Amino acid sequence: MLHYKKFAVVTALLGLMVVGMAATRPHDDDDKPKRNLKVLPKDISHEELDKVMDEWKVALGVKCGFCHAQSKDSTSHHLDFASDAKPEKEIARHMYKMTAKINKKYFSFNKDDKGAVIPTITCMTCHRGNPHPGEVK
Ligand code: HEC
Ligand code: HEC
Repeated sequence: MLHYKKFAVVTALLGLMVVGMAATRPHDDDDKPKRNLKVLPKDISHEELDKVMDEWKVALGVKCGFCHAQSKDSTSHHLDFASDAKPEKEIARHMYKMTAKINKKYFSFNKDDKGAVIPTITCMTCHRGNPHPGEVK
């Protein structure tokens, strides 16, 4: 009888441990993939990031896949947004830095009433819906 009770307690404890381990596993880091942001603020919200990406898409007159590579998983038609496989993505980072520099250096007189610099030059200023504004037609 005593023997049986001990067995029951040990089984119950083991059961609790297994349930506990299963409950903590999905909170591991790897279900939240690391972001690969080098020019945009690392803590940018999902909504703000979406807004910026949409602006760039419209400014260049392209689709998301112009800068973002296809996912390596061939059964998926999704884009791998964190991948840097397409050179256009790195060019876009250069363009972002250049645009910020032009605004800071040459348009810093353009401030709102709180003194914050208004971004005068945007991707649209040059691109106007064209990925290659340097081409002479
Ligand atoms: C002109 C090029 C360009 C276009 C077009 C573009 N993106 Fe991006 N995207 C980038 C760059 C560059 C980064 C990385 C920014 C950084 O390094 O801070 C990025 C980052 C992202 C990320 C974050 C990835 C991560 O590391 O977690 C997502 C999500 C994303 N883009 C979605 C989109 C979507 C959706 C579209 C279409 C609406 C789009 N992008 C269009 C250039 C582009
Ligand atoms: C001062 C003008 C100017 C601004 C501002 C500008 N660009 Fe550009 N961009 C260019 C020129 C010029 C080219 C070269 C086009 C060519 O090769 O014919 C270019 C090329 C690019 C390319 C490469 C296209 C390709 O197929 O090689 C990308 C991507 C790009 N720009 C993204 C952006 C993004 C994103 C912004 C805003 C953050 C931006 N640009 C702002 C002038 C500008």
